[in-house]
Amino acid sequence: MPPKQTTIRPRARQDDGAIASVIEAAFGGQAEVALVEALRRDGDMVLERVAEEAQGGLVGHIAFSRLSAEGAGQSLRAVALAPLAVAPALQRKGIGDALTRTALTDLRNAGEEIAVVLGHPAYYPRFGFSNLQAKRLEAPFSGASFMALELRPGALADHRWRITYARAFETG
Ligand SMILES: CC(C)(COP(=O)(O)OP(=O)(O)OC[C@H]1O[C@@H](n2cnc3c(N)ncnc32)[C@H](O)[C@@H]1OP(=O)(O)O)[C@@H](O)C(=O)NCCC(=O)NCCS
Repeated sequence: MPPKQTTIRPRARQDDGAIASVIEAAFGGQAEVALVEALRRDGDMVLERVAEEAQGGLVGHIAFSRLSAEGAGQSLRAVALAPLAVAPALQRKGIGDALTRTALTDLRNAGEEIAVVLGHPAYYPRFGFSNLQAKRLEAPFSGASFMALELRPGALADHRWRITYARAFETG
């Protein structure tokens, strides 16, 4: 469980400086900050959530961007999780978990059908992400780190889906 005084809420524009600081501290560089800014600029950001401490400090951030997923003349409403960041001093307290679960619930309620992530194979399965499910996707990635989650049960079942990431990932 995250610390009781931590709130998960949507991103507000005035959060952006603090979001950039958290991402830079978590990843030790600017690449993921640039990715988030490019996704916003391109209109490809679908959902952002922040974790905020009672004293007003922003301690975590998660982003989901639009993904194209097509197969057999159909398309799915699909999103890519990236990046997820928690301030280094507050990691392993459940903040990343709370951000991810809240965001996935909101995405489900908004009618999104699948989510994918390229990330730690030891972390994301707890949310239902599965490497096996990802094998239904024709994607630029494969291997244990590439995982998919059906937000709508059965969404991936029928055929193979060709997925394309938002433009910002091409240069990121
Ligand atoms: C990965 C990250 C978002 C997790 O957030 P968090 O709030 O620290 O994680 P939670 O408290 O929700 O969950 C903790 C559990 O996650 C797992 N975990 C955390 N970091 C992990 C890592 N780097 N690799 C594998 N598992 C990890 C552990 O199982 C841990 O449980 P434990 O403390 O019992 O060992 C955070 O550590 C972070 O910002 N890391 C740097 C940036 C990054 O790697 N982002 C993800 C890119 S895929």
